[in-house]
Amino acid sequence: MIKLAIIGDMHMQFDEEDVRFLNASEYDAVLMVGDLASKNPDSLFKLLPLLNQVTKPTYLIPGNHDTTGVRQLIGEVTHNQFLINFGASSQPARMQKLKAELQHVILCGYSLHTLSGNLSMIAARPFSMGATDTTRGDETPVNFRPFMEKEYGIGTIGESRKKLRQLIDGVNPPYFILAHHGPHGLGSLATDMFGADFLPQETDFGDRDLADAVTYAQSIGKPPLAVIAGHMHYPTKHGKKPKQWWLRKDGILYVNAARWPRIFKHEGRTLRHHLKLEVSSEQAPQIAACYVEAGQVFTTTDDRAMLP
Ligand SMILES: [Fe+2]
Ligand SMILES: [Fe+2]
Repeated sequence: MIKLAIIGDMHMQFDEEDVRFLNASEYDAVLMVGDLASKNPDSLFKLLPLLNQVTKPTYLIPGNHDTTGVRQLIGEVTHNQFLINFGASSQPARMQKLKAELQHVILCGYSLHTLSGNLSMIAARPFSMGATDTTRGDETPVNFRPFMEKEYGIGTIGESRKKLRQLIDGVNPPYFILAHHGPHGLGSLATDMFGADFLPQETDFGDRDLADAVTYAQSIGKPPLAVIAGHMHYPTKHGKKPKQWWLRKDGILYVNAARWPRIFKHEGRTLRHHLKLEVSSEQAPQIAACYVEAGQVFTTTDDRAMLP
């Protein structure tokens, strides 16, 4: 049995108490789905000394708020190429700083990892934030294209799709997939796992390259045990409705770990959120939401519960 802690989008909500809890916990490793930073891209670097204090093996896939600037984010949302290009100039330097300042935390993206035992992990496309414009199919640019081309040699969804297929070809099952944003095909309602809750019209905002990777993996008889992501925060932006945070489909466990605020007050308690993923050879992976206060852990497996 392998026990993994999954930390959803932090957006600066991670502190010494989280470090103390994780270091004293029974978890074998920690997965961070990205979006460490606030809207200020340099806020990311304030969190790194804390991440470096986590003594468990820790894997981080960057989110769309990590190393990117406000101009780029606006450019991505409005499909404004000028802002995407103009804002990208400072991203490589921030990425270099991130790599230099992370100590034992493993920075993931288009990468293959072996965890404890014989369990493997594929890290999918980093910096993903989803898209609705699919008219260009495989030619659709990936988010933050100028940077992605320089850093990973990937500029389009088609290129990303091929890269993810290569990773699946190279992995030895059992394995799971870690991503910042989840796959297309899990529902279009704002309350669905990767449905957009910030547009006038509810829509499936999931990534098509990741959905293709899962379909490909199934077609060659190598389905992942689970797909772990974040990005679409729980609860919904408008109406604060519970968003589904886990489901099983065709034997694969899909998880959205992004609950924000992840540190919050409830009935006089200050609770810290993370997910517990248990993987064993005897049964399907098990997921639970955990709310921690002073070492005490409250858990729930309700796929839409606000609180235990
Ligand atoms: Fe986020
Ligand atoms: Fe995000």
